[in-house]
Amino acid sequence: MKAKVLVTRALFPEALERLNATFEVDYNPEDRALPPEEIAARLAGKDGAITLLSDRIDAAALAGAAGLKAVCNVAVGYNNYDLAAITAAGVMATNTPGVLDDTTADTAWALLLASARRIVAADRWVRDGQWQGWKFHDGWFGQDVHHATLGILGMGRIGRAVARRASGFSMRVIYHNRQRLEPGQEAACAATWVDKATLLRDSDFLVLMLPYSPATHHAIGAAELAAMKPSAHLINVARGGIVDDNALIDALGNGRLAGAGLDVFENEPALDPRFAGLSNVVLTPHIGSSSRATRLAMAMCAVDNLVAALAGQRPPNLLNPAVLGA
Ligand code: DGY
Repeated sequence: MKAKVLVTRALFPEALERLNATFEVDYNPEDRALPPEEIAARLAGKDGAITLLSDRIDAAALAGAAGLKAVCNVAVGYNNYDLAAITAAGVMATNTPGVLDDTTADTAWALLLASARRIVAADRWVRDGQWQGWKFHDGWFGQDVHHATLGILGMGRIGRAVARRASGFSMRVIYHNRQRLEPGQEAACAATWVDKATLLRDSDFLVLMLPYSPATHHAIGAAELAAMKPSAHLINVARGGIVDDNALIDALGNGRLAGAGLDVFENEPALDPRFAGLSNVVLTPHIGSSSRATRLAMAMCAVDNLVAALAGQRPPNLLNPAVLGA
């Protein structure tokens, strides 16, 4: 008899084909998040599930799913998982690290460059028909990226991919991470560890690459923003909640910070309307990993994890080895 699995929202046909070959699949073909009660109801009687970052998996979701063995997130971030509750229920949890590093690093750079050179506001101005002729003092002076200091807070794989890209811009790269990189890793991305105060003080561009957890909630708030250069730009492609959006809106609005590029927000998808009124912020809808190739690789990675887990093997990206007694 085939194992039964839930797929909570639309995936790629290629991924579904692999799942159908191995499992009996309960598939939500719509690209909309199922309500929590429906996830809980459809997890009952399942052996495994493929979930997206919009699905909260916690004790309530697992309450009726006694036979569940694995939940496999199609994301590297897993703050939608209550890992303690999942582990307490004896369920394996997995994520999709590695396959999205370069795409997400590209997005961070797209936002950094757009913010530095005011690309979105300039585009809007041209479209609005406001350009009357070329001027030397054109009112569009931006910030130089080349030879500036790039700061990275959180130096995992994606942070390192962001750092590697800086060499083409002849930048100084500094980073802060709880754990300092091995010397070989530091050399590979030409980055220097500094304490958080130095990072905030010296960065011309500060890219956030922290995972979200209670420990990183509002890691950038009013005090941190006040410690940054007024000419600096803040880039967040990690998670909403790492930045105190209220404090950021104040800093951008009162000239305490030159600009920001944001792919993630507190309370997303709801946007604080004050962001929309600021011309010095570039906003994108959590598209950090969004190329077709990368989203497909993420889906396939989640399928690999599920197939391994339900075959009684250790899935390649197991987040809670404690469930295996490891
Ligand atoms: C992740 O994988 O955590 C991203 O935010 C999804 O694109």
